[in-house]
Amino acid sequence: MAKKRTSKTRTKSNVPTFTKMKGKRITPNQKLILHLNEALAIENAAVQRLQSRIKQTRIENVRQRLQVHLEETKGQQDRLKQLISDLGNGQKNASTKDKAQLPIPTPPKSLTNMFGRMMTDAESELSAVKEDAIVENAEIILYDMLTHLAERMNATNAIDILLQSLSEERSMADWIKTNMPDMVAQLWPEIEASIATVEGE
Ligand SMILES: [Fe+2]
Repeated sequence: MAKKRTSKTRTKSNVPTFTKMKGKRITPNQKLILHLNEALAIENAAVQRLQSRIKQTRIENVRQRLQVHLEETKGQQDRLKQLISDLGNGQKNASTKDKAQLPIPTPPKSLTNMFGRMMTDAESELSAVKEDAIVENAEIILYDMLTHLAERMNATNAIDILLQSLSEERSMADWIKTNMPDMVAQLWPEIEASIATVEGE
């Protein structure tokens, strides 16, 4: 039987453990382009998500902040494309147009069905805000790690550009956290109205 080519095994906790080196030897620029494209695919998906959130949200200051962040995100896309093009010596097709799957948790079907029947629109809005926060925090991790990788690869030009995006993601995530009490306060009357009062509770 042919020997299975595998470079990682899984532990009981399902975390991959690398047992031998994987990955072709490529230049630092090629390597960095791969990582930058991963970030670009996330931003490509983020732009689409922000556009639909702007249309959908019913909280005016959320809409305004998302609009600001949409413009920032387009800037992040442009800077990533520029970096990729510079590292790839102006190669036109080096930047991905693909969209990554955003890291949004999916509840189990049993709960989704119940949510569909019992959640108010106000709670759906809160769910979307929760997803906004998860995406922004994931982007913080992404740019933070990319900055450290760029440092290791001596890609000095990339570092400040990545730090700018990191700071925009942090400020967006902070804004959501700071405004969370107000958002819940605005939506609470509708949620409260949907709660049945039970005698003796
Ligand atoms: Fe973002």
